[in-house]
Amino acid sequence: MRILLFSGKGGVGKTSLAAATGLQLSRLGYRTLVMSVDPAHSLADAFDLETSLFQEKTNDPYPIDPRLSILEVNIQKEIKRHWREISTYVISVLRTTGISDVEAEELAILPGMEELSAMMYVNQYRREDRYDIIVLDCAPTAESMRFVSMPTTLEWYMKHVFPFQRGLLKAVRPVANRLSPVELPTDSYFANVQDLFGRLDGISDLLEDANVTSVRLVTNPEKMVLRETQRAFVYFSLHGLTVDGIIVNRVLPQAITDAWFEEWRASQAKILHEIDEYFAPVVVKRVPLFTHEVLGRERLEELSGVLYAEKEDPAAVSRTEAPYSFVKRNAHYEVRLRLPFAVKGEVGLFKKGDELVVEIGTLRRHIGLPTSMAALTPTRATLENKILTVEMREG
Ligand SMILES: Nc1ncnc2c1ncn2[C@@H]1O[C@H](COP(=O)(O)OP(=O)(O)O)[C@@H](O)[C@H]1O
Ligand SMILES: [Mg+2]
Repeated sequence: MRILLFSGKGGVGKTSLAAATGLQLSRLGYRTLVMSVDPAHSLADAFDLETSLFQEKTNDPYPIDPRLSILEVNIQKEIKRHWREISTYVISVLRTTGISDVEAEELAILPGMEELSAMMYVNQYRREDRYDIIVLDCAPTAESMRFVSMPTTLEWYMKHVFPFQRGLLKAVRPVANRLSPVELPTDSYFANVQDLFGRLDGISDLLEDANVTSVRLVTNPEKMVLRETQRAFVYFSLHGLTVDGIIVNRVLPQAITDAWFEEWRASQAKILHEIDEYFAPVVVKRVPLFTHEVLGRERLEELSGVLYAEKEDPAAVSRTEAPYSFVKRNAHYEVRLRLPFAVKGEVGLFKKGDELVVEIGTLRRHIGLPTSMAALTPTRATLENKILTVEMREG
């Protein structure tokens, strides 16, 4: 199975491009699912589907044609299905603050639930071998990052915090419940967490396997959008995912010669050049600004025709180079990370247990070290040719 993840800033064209890619894949014969992970779904809208018709079917893929289905994950239904114990607990805590039941239920949708729910579906469909390809239409960049970092964060929590917390609570609950105004979580809450974790089992391996998961970053030829795309590129790499394509959408076509757009054209040309340079050797595709919205199947087919050559396979694996690698030198070991845009001053490094922690801006990534390197400490970091090399020695 292949997973293609479309990510980028809000409004750049992720949904349109994910849908158009789905059409191309199904035309080539793949059993394809396009799944919206953005809580502000617009996938059904892109296909111009009657929403009332579609809504009833949510959380069950909706067939567009025999080989293509779409899915918008409905979080309320998911909560009833998978998150009951957790949300019941959160609601009970919120109630003690005096807010209304309705508000409590709204607030009990925790950040990340959408993403985790979507991942459970990916995992389930993989086990059932239901699709050849799942195209993920992601939420804007920040949430996408949460999507890909969730499994590792959760794994870390389950390994380090969960057993401790559960055991501790078992011991203190009888006393604490008499003293504390807030009821402590029951054992069924923990059972729910454990069950959810089980459903996510193996997902981070899938996301980090370049032969399974590829990230396609969607951008526009504008400076602000590009900056976000560059950050996303680093962050995805840090999380072990492979970005194997950049799509620049809404490029002004040559046909526009109106003086009004002259300045736009000049700045776009500059940014397009910058994009090609930055992301090389990653393939950069360009899609023109159309004369109309990309709405409905016909328009999506048109977009698909511009984006892909007739026989071109969007699922082809074009890059498998790991975003980071571990190497043994003579007397020391090295961890190498490809960090195309980070400058040295912005990268923070330290060791925590058997993990190397890399910080860039506000993002933190725990990199589980191979056993052979777990006892070593980082001694030196150098950034050269966009590769951050961390030396690890016995300290
Ligand atoms: N190349 C394009 N030319 C004209 N309109 C476009 C183009 N790409 C996307 N659109 C339109 O822009 C809007 C936002 O696109 P969408 O795919 O929903 O972006 P995102 O999912 O990134 O928020 C939609 O109305 C879509 O039809
Ligand atoms: Mg969208």
